Amino acid sequence: METAEIRRRYIEFFADRGHTVVPSASLVSPDPSLLFTVAGMVPFIPYLNGTVPPPYPRAVDSQKCIRTLDIEEVGRTPRHGTFFQMLGNWSFGDYFKRDAIKWAWELLTTAEADGGFGFDPADLWVTVFQDDDEAEAIWRDEVGLPAERIQRLGYADNYWMTGQPGPAGPDSEIFFDRGPAYGADGGPATGDDRYVEIWNLVFMQYEIANIRSKEDFDVVRELPNKNVDTGMGLERVAFLKQGVENIYEIDQIRPVIDAASRLSGKPYGADHEDDVRMRVVSDHIRSAMMLMLDGIVPSNEGRGYVLRRLLRRSVRAMRLLGVEEPTFGELFPTSRDAMAPAYPELVPEFSRIQRLASAEEETFLRTLTGGTAILDTAVQRTREAGSSTLAGDTAFLLHDTYGFPIDLTLEVAEEAGLTVDREAFDRLMAEQRSRAKADAKQRKRALADLSVYSEFRQRGETAFLGYDQLVTGSRVLGLVKDGASVPSIALGDIAEVILAETTLYPESGGQDADQGEIRGPGYLLEVLDVQRPVAGLVSHRVQVARGEVAVGDEAETVVDPLYRRGATQAHSATHLIHAALRQVLGPEAHQAGSYNRAGFMRLDFSWSSPLSPETRSEVEDIANLRVNEDLEVVTRVLPLEEARAMGAMALFGEKYGDVVRMVDIGGPWSRELCGGTHVAHSSEIGLINVVGESSVGATSRRIESLVGPEAFREFAAERALVSELGSSLRVPREQIVSRVADLAASLKAAERRIAEFERQALAQRVPALAQQASSAGRVTAVLEQVGDLASPDDLRALVTQVRDRLGAAPAVVALAATVGGRPVVIVATNAAARDAGVKAGPLAKRAAQVLGGGGGGRDDVAQGGGSDPARIGDALEAVRGELA
Ligand code: ALA
Repeated sequence: METAEIRRRYIEFFADRGHTVVPSASLVSPDPSLLFTVAGMVPFIPYLNGTVPPPYPRAVDSQKCIRTLDIEEVGRTPRHGTFFQMLGNWSFGDYFKRDAIKWAWELLTTAEADGGFGFDPADLWVTVFQDDDEAEAIWRDEVGLPAERIQRLGYADNYWMTGQPGPAGPDSEIFFDRGPAYGADGGPATGDDRYVEIWNLVFMQYEIANIRSKEDFDVVRELPNKNVDTGMGLERVAFLKQGVENIYEIDQIRPVIDAASRLSGKPYGADHEDDVRMRVVSDHIRSAMMLMLDGIVPSNEGRGYVLRRLLRRSVRAMRLLGVEEPTFGELFPTSRDAMAPAYPELVPEFSRIQRLASAEEETFLRTLTGGTAILDTAVQRTREAGSSTLAGDTAFLLHDTYGFPIDLTLEVAEEAGLTVDREAFDRLMAEQRSRAKADAKQRKRALADLSVYSEFRQRGETAFLGYDQLVTGSRVLGLVKDGASVPSIALGDIAEVILAETTLYPESGGQDADQGEIRGPGYLLEVLDVQRPVAGLVSHRVQVARGEVAVGDEAETVVDPLYRRGATQAHSATHLIHAALRQVLGPEAHQAGSYNRAGFMRLDFSWSSPLSPETRSEVEDIANLRVNEDLEVVTRVLPLEEARAMGAMALFGEKYGDVVRMVDIGGPWSRELCGGTHVAHSSEIGLINVVGESSVGATSRRIESLVGPEAFREFAAERALVSELGSSLRVPREQIVSRVADLAASLKAAERRIAEFERQALAQRVPALAQQASSAGRVTAVLEQVGDLASPDDLRALVTQVRDRLGAAPAVVALAATVGGRPVVIVATNAAARDAGVKAGPLAKRAAQVLGGGGGGRDDVAQGGGSDPARIGDALEAVRGELA
């Protein structure tokens, strides 16, 4: 049974039983405490813990998930995938244990011909939580499963949580027995790979926190609802139904194993370690592709780092298979072909994904080459120093800065007969990990603080009326100060205000929060910020400017009309620039992030090379022509599917409900899903002035513009600058450029002439200096101060000319000067002096010692310097002393 068919049957089975079919959410977790969607329940957390009322009592879905905690296990067990798909049926306070258990059993054991999965009941085992008598009784008495195939296990096995504070609960898991060929008897409690967990039914009824381990945490409260969260592993059922040995060999993954085998010329199934490598490649390539589909780009932190690691581990695995050339150009299209039937959105996005992947591969292959060079040097140094242990910080630096894998370092060191100081390396790694952990803790705290808002969210959404009006009357529903709900706030307090409705725009979709005020009988609040801390709820951060306000008071929200006008201009300008970029560069230049506020917009887009000045002007020009065309801006609220069908661009990682807002400027030319505020006609934007274009990472660029009056002011400032330049150069503006070029050319010519004069002036000093020659020990010597010179080169020229004038008898010249305020001494010897054993190097060094610096050089010419010009005379005397 194909993977797609398993998915189809599952969805259909639960849809027939009253479940709403919900599409997969992004791999980017909407929950701030998690980097990724690690389980089917992640997108539903607000419904499970009651923060947001569930829009349906039952749901069914197939959720894309990523888990990389067990990345080292990939390819070594039959069932560890970093990317996987979890089929789930959900009850939000609707049905509970009985239906969840019975339906799971029915779907698994119904014959294939009748629409089920056709598992033989004799092959199935279940586990239940240690004191869940109820679940056990349902399995035994109602399903009829023999008691000896029901096992009770503890927190470590039969209690489910994400690992972060949030909803959790006891579970019951269903296992398939692969038979005695795969391990010992005894059921899933043996922990053997013979028993493959295929479905987990979680009875989610608690909220937990302070998680110290899987078995040690605090139960904070019972959830308002008893929920059901189930997860059936699509890949696991697929491998069992397809009669293969592991998840990597199913129809969605196996083609990549075959491609890796072809590229390396190594047959799959011949060598255990090679097989593991091919499985790693097949898993990682697919996971990386799906992450990039959801908008993640390789980077050095967070999600991007996980992606980078997957890509690099793939490169590394291919190298261990003996392939040194790039392979992503083949592996990715193979994975796409295997996955596109289930994820058709891969097709239009694929060229972007391939470009990112290949760029990363190329860089890493270079890193491996460069890292090898650094490592080789380090190995050589270690050996020269007579040590047999490569320093741990070298290994860490290679790992941390160059992305050079430790196993490779170990391997190379071993080949060279060295060991690596693993202890130091591990310590540095541990330090880095604890930094990462501290970071994660902070994210956790952010989540915990949300509970105060969920209470308000229970009572409904904040109505946003600000699209059509700037002022509305409302009522204070709640006040939050220092994270806690309070009855009133007084003059000077900074607090958050929750209202039934508002016209103040909360920061979202790249648009900054509105400026304005909230007022009511006897009070005035200055608005500092407006946010949406949980979906659907607006919170206004304010400072009390007059009076005091209590829960229940009347309130009026007033948006600053000038600010709002600027904000709408900037947001509409962002759409125009985005559309203009895509018109000029093609659809691959798509938005990766944006920010706008009154007068300013910034847009990051995926593109890897700088825009030429011509391209940048063209984009600016198109956007401004669109402004001038006075295009109508049309917003429509419609179902997501309809908007998608009309080609609306949704941003990756954003989670839209079923109904979305679509903003068109000039019809389909600029069509985006967007909740922001916009002008009614493009001409209201006024003017867009692109002021910057720069890089943000290897794969995206940033374009920044001033908008409206700010754009005009910038042009005006430039005009003032140009006219100032014109008047100081005394030419009309058309001639400024040629005038500056002329000035630069004549300056250069003047500098050349000055240099020539200086050379001549120096040459004229040669005879007089030569006359100062006197005997010093075995040689004739000139030891003089020559004042201030432009460069050490001038001094060197002078020294050698004086020496050459002194004739063939042994002669030494040492001249001292100041260059830029610092003392410099240059010493030259002739051949006869050197024959007599007098060398320039030691003399320059001696002089430098006196000057408080260092020096040295060849036998014929050497230089010394220092910091103390007052000691120049002493330095020359020291040279004389040496000669004597
Ligand atoms: N949330 C449960 C799991 O991921 C179903 O296993």
